[in-house]
Amino acid sequence: MMKVDRRAFLGTLGSATAIGAMSHEALADAAEHYMIEQLDADGADDREKMGAQLEFYDPERKVRRGVGRIFADNKNLAPMPAKPTLVDFYELRFAPARHVLQSAKRALTTGQPERTVLACLLHDVVLNLVKPDHGWWGAQLMEPYVDERVSWGLRYHQALRFFPDPEVGYEYPDFYNRIFGEDYEPDAHVQRAYKQARDHKWYMEARLITMNDEYSFDREAKVSVEPFIDIIGRNFKQPAEGLGNDDSPSSHMWRTIANPNRPL
Ligand SMILES: [Fe+2]
Ligand SMILES: [Fe+2]
Repeated sequence: MMKVDRRAFLGTLGSATAIGAMSHEALADAAEHYMIEQLDADGADDREKMGAQLEFYDPERKVRRGVGRIFADNKNLAPMPAKPTLVDFYELRFAPARHVLQSAKRALTTGQPERTVLACLLHDVVLNLVKPDHGWWGAQLMEPYVDERVSWGLRYHQALRFFPDPEVGYEYPDFYNRIFGEDYEPDAHVQRAYKQARDHKWYMEARLITMNDEYSFDREAKVSVEPFIDIIGRNFKQPAEGLGNDDSPSSHMWRTIANPNRPL
C-alpha cells in the first residue's frame, strides 16, 4: 500500500482557511485523487510520454482543484486517430492510468465477472475530465456504451466508499481516518446516494468497484491495458465512427478529452 504524506497532501490544498472551508466530502475526494496522481506521477517513461504533471497541485498555478487532469497539464498531447477507440483513450489520454488498471487487474485475478472488471477499468477515468462528483460524471460518460448495471455501479461507487459493509468485508478506508479524523461525515447528497444504492437490487455492482478500489494504490504493480482488450471488445460497445464521432449523449465529453485545447 502507498503511504500518504499527510503534510505534503495538506500542502496541496492551500491555506488552513481554505482547508477549513472544504467539506469533508471534498477533502476525502481530494485525498483519493491526490493518491491517484501520486501513483501516476511515479515512472519517468510514462511521465515523459504523457506529460503527467508533477506540479499538479502547485497553488501558484491557480487552477481549481476540481479541474480534470487533462486540463491541468499544458504539455503536448499525442494526436488521436481519426476513429478513436476506448483503448486509444487509455494509451493516449488516460495513461498511465495505474489506479484503474490495478483495480481492474484485481477484479480479473480474483475471478470476478467481466462486467465488474470493465466497471473497475472505467471507474475513475473521468477524473481526466473533471473531479467533483466523478461518480455521476463517469456514469454519464460511459452510459451509451456499457451494460446498464456497469454505469449504475460507476454512478454510486463514489458514495459507497464512505460506508462500510462488514458483510462483504468492505471497511471504511483507514487513510480517511488518518487524514480527516474520526468525525468525518459525508455530504447530504452522498448520504442520499448511499441510501438509494443500499436499497437497490444492483447494490453489489457499485460495492464491488469500491472493494477493488481499496487495494489499488500499489506503485510496484506492473499494469497495462493489454490484458483487458478482449474484455473491452466483448463488453464495451465501441462505435464504428470512433468515440466522439458517434453523436451519442456523451460524444461531446469524449471530444473534449481528445482535444482539451479547443477554445470553444
Ligand atoms: Fe472513484
Ligand atoms: Fe478509485
